[in-house]
Amino acid sequence: MDKNSIDTAPYLAGVIGHPISHSRSPRLHNYWLAKYNINGFYIPFSVTTERLKNSLKSLIDLGFKGLNVTIPHKTNVLTFADSITDRAALIGAANTLYFSKGGKIHADNTDGYGFIQNIVDEIPDFDFYDKTAIIYGAGGSSRAIASALISNGIKQVGITNRTRSKAQIISENLGAKVLVMDWRTAPETIGEADIIINATSMGMVGQPEFNQPITNAKKTALVVDIVYNPMLTGLIKEAERLKLKTVGGIGMLLNQAVPGFEHWFQKTPEIDDRVRKFIIE
Ligand code: ATR
Repeated sequence: MDKNSIDTAPYLAGVIGHPISHSRSPRLHNYWLAKYNINGFYIPFSVTTERLKNSLKSLIDLGFKGLNVTIPHKTNVLTFADSITDRAALIGAANTLYFSKGGKIHADNTDGYGFIQNIVDEIPDFDFYDKTAIIYGAGGSSRAIASALISNGIKQVGITNRTRSKAQIISENLGAKVLVMDWRTAPETIGEADIIINATSMGMVGQPEFNQPITNAKKTALVVDIVYNPMLTGLIKEAERLKLKTVGGIGMLLNQAVPGFEHWFQKTPEIDDRVRKFIIE
């Protein structure tokens, strides 16, 4: 669409957070808007916690179709929601909001969906049923991944975290399929896992490298890193060296954005190599 010639009411969506400059969502959604020639805009808004409620109201009044939500609002935005999907409720956080007529706010969380779909895109016949997973990390991403794995029929999920108490809370919230594993001894038991997941920020640009050995992994194990910058993380390189199957993090970032784009802009965006490259440039 030629953005100098807007003649009808455009579709409006955006992302709220604080800080917001790091978000890749505007780049992604505006790429798709241009690709599909859609009369729409996706705008980043820096919104502090004190201004969250009023900002939501203003954007609804202005006709926004919905928003992505990032740090620090993912949890407290649920307070303002009129309805919450099961998966967002289970995770205790939302990353996607839909505004309906009458100003109602519907909260969803697509992070777990993005994680699962990323694996399915890379390994179409992958079956989660009867598998065992180990997740390193116990932040919001870990919680979303664990609950999505359970929804997809996983047999057991072990969560291990530097700060054990956070893994304990996820285990208590998500039930009997989630076990807490000790951070120091996890590498010894990793040989039982079919899926090994890094859901920490280790390996990300500017952060320390992923430091847990995976040499004991079984030969058929799948190694998934949610870190996407750099695209080829130290963990993925190590897994490749060990000839294990790997899935990188960029596809999770792209897939978690699909439900929002579909809903706000009435088009299912395609995930191809061009958008994969574009988003990390
Ligand atoms: P997200 O929302 O992406 O999950 P987060 O909630 O900030 O992000 O969680 C980051 C995760 O990375 C946490 O599990 C954190 O461990 P702690 O709970 O002990 O802080 C983990 N993490 C970050 N840096 C780490 C490091 N250097 N070593 C081990 N774990 C690390």
